[in-house]
Amino acid sequence: MTTKTALITGAARRIGAGIARDLHDYGMNVIIHYHTSDSDAQALCSELNEVRPDSAITVKKDLRDVDGYSELARSVMSFKGNLDVLINNASMFYPTPVTRTTPDQWMDIVGTNMKAPYFLIQTLQPYLNKSRGCVINITDIYGDVPLSEHSVYSASKAGLIMLTRSLAHELAPDIRVNAISPGAILWPDDIEVDHQTKVLNNTLAGRAGSTQDITTTVRFLIESDFITAQVINVDGGRLV
Ligand SMILES: NC(=O)c1ccc[n+]([C@@H]2O[C@H](COP(=O)([O-])OP(=O)(O)OC[C@H]3O[C@@H](n4cnc5c(N)ncnc54)[C@H](OP(=O)(O)O)[C@@H]3O)[C@@H](O)[C@H]2O)c1
Repeated sequence: MTTKTALITGAARRIGAGIARDLHDYGMNVIIHYHTSDSDAQALCSELNEVRPDSAITVKKDLRDVDGYSELARSVMSFKGNLDVLINNASMFYPTPVTRTTPDQWMDIVGTNMKAPYFLIQTLQPYLNKSRGCVINITDIYGDVPLSEHSVYSASKAGLIMLTRSLAHELAPDIRVNAISPGAILWPDDIEVDHQTKVLNNTLAGRAGSTQDITTTVRFLIESDFITAQVINVDGGRLV
């Protein structure tokens, strides 16, 4: 049987790196996509290849530039010749108060969080079709409820949630498309302690999640052949 191959976008650091490590641990070959985190991506790739030679590669790409997606697909397919799982994890997150948002910021956030997953799926669809593969879009609970002064980010994730359902419909039955909406998992570097406390006080689990809470759900969705068009909140009960 061919070993499965997964492409994880934004996988050099944080949650994406956790997903890449976990899928590798699960026995898959992994393609670690990154944009600016060269040294983190190379270090992760070496770490995984030390465990199993020739089981990981890196691909560098600014996902806002959809013109280069055919070249990205060539790199992906020249690795092992198959693609079974696409995890759209790469994301841009920063405030956009409506009085100050620029068109470039809109293009940045919507381009990375919504347009890129759509055109990556379009480009890779023939290969995912062949493997009867699956797509997992990493969205956000703030795609369901707005985050103050982050309207562009919230709208981009809401759009990705709708793309998940629409494309599950359009690509069935060969490709399953699902999404995971994390709550508080890893705080951004510049987050204030007061804000963290407020978020955790509104989370039934009383704690932030961990990368493992996400990777467990990723594996579940990969294994669950009868689940498509679903969005699973992994948020410790934040939205109740
Ligand atoms: N962290 C949380 O608690 C949390 C909560 C809710 C939802 N989420 C969602 O979970 C996912 C992972 O979260 P995270 O906090 O680990 O993400 P993150 O650190 O904010 O971003 C992940 C990666 O996205 C890549 N990226 C950003 N813009 C890109 C572009 N234009 N082209 C290519 N790559 C780009 C970056 O790669 P480089 O570093 O290589 O530039 C970055 O390392 C995201 O989709 C996020 O929205 C996270």
